[in-house]
Amino acid sequence: MPEFQTVRGMRDFLAKEAAAMKYVEALTRELARLYGFQEIITPIMESYELLAAKSGEEIRQRMYTFEDLGGRKVALRPEFTASIARLMASTLRNEPKPLRLYCFGSLYRYDEPQFGRYREFWQSNYELIGTSRPEADVEILSLTNDLFQRIGLRDCHFKIGHVGIVKGILSAEGMKEQSQNRVMQLLDKKQWNDALTIAKKLKVSEKCLDTLKKVFEIKGEDSEKVLKEIKKTVKDHEKAVTATENLKEILMLLQKGGVELDMTIEAGFARGLEYYTGIIYEVTVPELDVSIAGGGRYDRLIELFGGEPVPAVGIAHGIDRITLAMEKQQIQPKTMLGMRVMIVSIGEEPRGEALKIASMLRNAGVPVELEVMGRTVSRALQDADRKGATHAIILGPKEMEKQEVTLRDMKKREQSTIKVQNLLEEIRKTQA
Ligand code: HAM
Repeated sequence: MPEFQTVRGMRDFLAKEAAAMKYVEALTRELARLYGFQEIITPIMESYELLAAKSGEEIRQRMYTFEDLGGRKVALRPEFTASIARLMASTLRNEPKPLRLYCFGSLYRYDEPQFGRYREFWQSNYELIGTSRPEADVEILSLTNDLFQRIGLRDCHFKIGHVGIVKGILSAEGMKEQSQNRVMQLLDKKQWNDALTIAKKLKVSEKCLDTLKKVFEIKGEDSEKVLKEIKKTVKDHEKAVTATENLKEILMLLQKGGVELDMTIEAGFARGLEYYTGIIYEVTVPELDVSIAGGGRYDRLIELFGGEPVPAVGIAHGIDRITLAMEKQQIQPKTMLGMRVMIVSIGEEPRGEALKIASMLRNAGVPVELEVMGRTVSRALQDADRKGATHAIILGPKEMEKQEVTLRDMKKREQSTIKVQNLLEEIRKTQA
């Protein structure tokens, strides 16, 4: 048994997995560029209070929390949104709106490790800050749809809700924010009966309980029909009606803009994070039973951290789960392999020349690996094959005198003697 292993829940990413992650990362960054999001980098560690403020009970209990040597209570970030809201309430508070911010990096949650659930995982996170207009909500959904289409993921399903529906009903009963959050947490865990029991304990009226029960049952793919049903059910609760209208406006704009999502609208849908105030969504694929993305609108978080009231909406895509979904759907990450050359010298003599040829090719943008193990030509060629080199250049002392080398096309298994000065041209020719 080796002495050390990774800490439970932490993983090493070897070349193949790292390449898949980097491929998805590159696509998320390209989407940021196309939609005008600027990348920012925030610290992995933040003050515990900041991260705990509105992350929700579930995440709060699973944070990696500790005291630093200065006695500060700190935690590893379980998400990006709190850090961005902190920035908006401080350094970025006077920036012209809207702001479109993109982050990519690792997050930490002490979740029970299982398929698709890790203690260290990666997100691409997008926040559109400064407007409550439905165009912004639509933009985040459209960007997400574009990302998954570019990756080639099939059958992505969007689950969509609006926290203002249930919260609108509860607040009309005078229920405090904290109690509302308890109800929402149970809904997030799909414990509808427990949510009703808690509401009953908190002395909401029979009529309200009846409405809640009906609301929890409303869901469907025909958004027009579902929205009509919600509106009818919540008609006596003004705030819930406003929330339904907001959801309708967003979904209609989505439709008008030609963004076709495969979606279910669920009136009793809730998410674990406590800062949401408007539309919320999660994306799944049939091959995984965990979401590959999640987000929503949060219009009061920045204000809570001491800033101006600034409306905002955002989403985070789970990179680990996206690569798992790609594997399941047999989608290969596109890697820019291109030419890769291995240089082998026979004996000691041509070693200097080998270095010079390597530099010449690298300067022309060709990736080169020098044989550094002192292997025989046949062993070196086996190694080049294993590594997927497209060419091998073999330097023998006699050929070198004539400024010539042997160029081997590894795929065709053919080789010829050529002048050093023609090497680059020849390699490029065989690649084309
Ligand atoms: P979240 O739903 O907690 O939202 O996380 C978003 C995504 O991160 C999930 O859909 C999932 O793909 C991935 N994820 C979460 N936990 C794990 C885990 N333990 N292992 C692997 N992947 C995981 C947020 O984080 C919000 N900050 C999103 C947001 C941005 N809302 C507004 N703006």
